[in-house]
Parts: sequence; C-alpha cells; structure tokens
Amino acid sequence: MDIGKTLISAEEIDQRLAEMGEAITADYEGKDTLLVAVLKGAFMVMADLARHIKLPVDIDFMAVSSYGAATQTSGVVRILKDLDQEIADRHVLIVEDIVDSGLTLRYLLKNLEVRKPASLEIAALLVKKGIQRVPIDVKYVGFEIPPDFVIGYGLDLAGKYRNLPYIAQMESDA
Ligand code: IMP
Ligand code: MG
Repeated sequence: MDIGKTLISAEEIDQRLAEMGEAITADYEGKDTLLVAVLKGAFMVMADLARHIKLPVDIDFMAVSSYGAATQTSGVVRILKDLDQEIADRHVLIVEDIVDSGLTLRYLLKNLEVRKPASLEIAALLVKKGIQRVPIDVKYVGFEIPPDFVIGYGLDLAGKYRNLPYIAQMESDA
C-alpha cells in the first residue's frame, strides 16, 4: 500500500490537530457548538480533531460529491446526505480535509448560511496554496501544501487510500 512519498507524517498531523483543538477549545468555550464534517474525506480529521477539543460539542455529518472518480474538480456539488439537526442560532464549525478549488466550501457556506447559524467557521487540515478559484476564509488551517494531488488520512484516489495514517503526495505520473 506504499504509494507516493510522505508529505505529512501521522505524528505531524496529530501535533497540529492538538494545536488546532486547543485554539478551538478557547474560542468556543461556553457556546452551543456543532462540528460538521464533510464526508467522506473529513471522517478521520473529525475523529482526531474532536478528541483534541475539550468541550461538550455536538457532531454531525454532511456528504457531498464534487469529484466522481477523477482527480480534477468538476465544480458541481451534490448533497448526498444533509445534516440531521437544525443549526439556527448554534455555532457551526465545518471540519474539512482539504480546500482545493474552494468550490465545495463555497457551496456549503451558502447552503448553511441561509439556516441562520449564530456563527459559521471552517477548520481544514490542508489548504492547497494559491489555487482557490473563490476566496475562502478558513479560520483554522492545519497545513498549507503545494497544489498537487495528495492521498491518505481520509483523502482518496478513486475511493482508495483513505485509511493511510499519513498524507502522501502522488507521483506526478501516477
Ligand atoms: P474543492 O476543489 O476545494 O471543492 O475540493 C473538493 C473536495 O475534493 C475536497 O473536500 C476533497 O474531498 C477532494 N480533494 C481535493 N483535493 C484533493 C486531493 O489532492 N486529494 C484527494 N481529494 C482531494
Ligand atoms: Mg472533502
């Protein structure tokens, strides 16, 4: 299952998530907070980041699709699974694996804003540098990475490699 070269190790990921969790704990103290992970990619970030947040937060999931099996964004976002709960007047923190073109998040932000949350912010483990097609304000950023295709730690290539415990960069001819 070795593929590509390690870009960010499991230890580095955990260390950074601990720092992000500490910041989130400080910022959301005393607030009715709902963490929303975007499936499938963010399932691992959610599990690990949530354990570093020392507050009684609520957790929910959305599933969206924008890629199909290709490695290029289509710009088309479909909601495959919506939230189970209402978010009006609650503090919502979207937990994302990666911000690439930003199109998925732009769509999600628009979709959630109309439900009138008390606040709506984003925590993303990875942000690809300089290729967002729309400006996205990510409050908690794990790592900025070059705009290459990466896999592991929730991120897939045609559905596979999500279970790699670290982030690997695909070889450019892969
Ligand atoms: P967007 O281009 O910012 O809309 O990214 C949409 C989604 O595509 C992300 O949430 C990921 O699930 C997926 N994605 C983007 N870049 C990569 C990558 O390098 N590897 C694997 N999945 C990716
Ligand atoms: Mg995703």
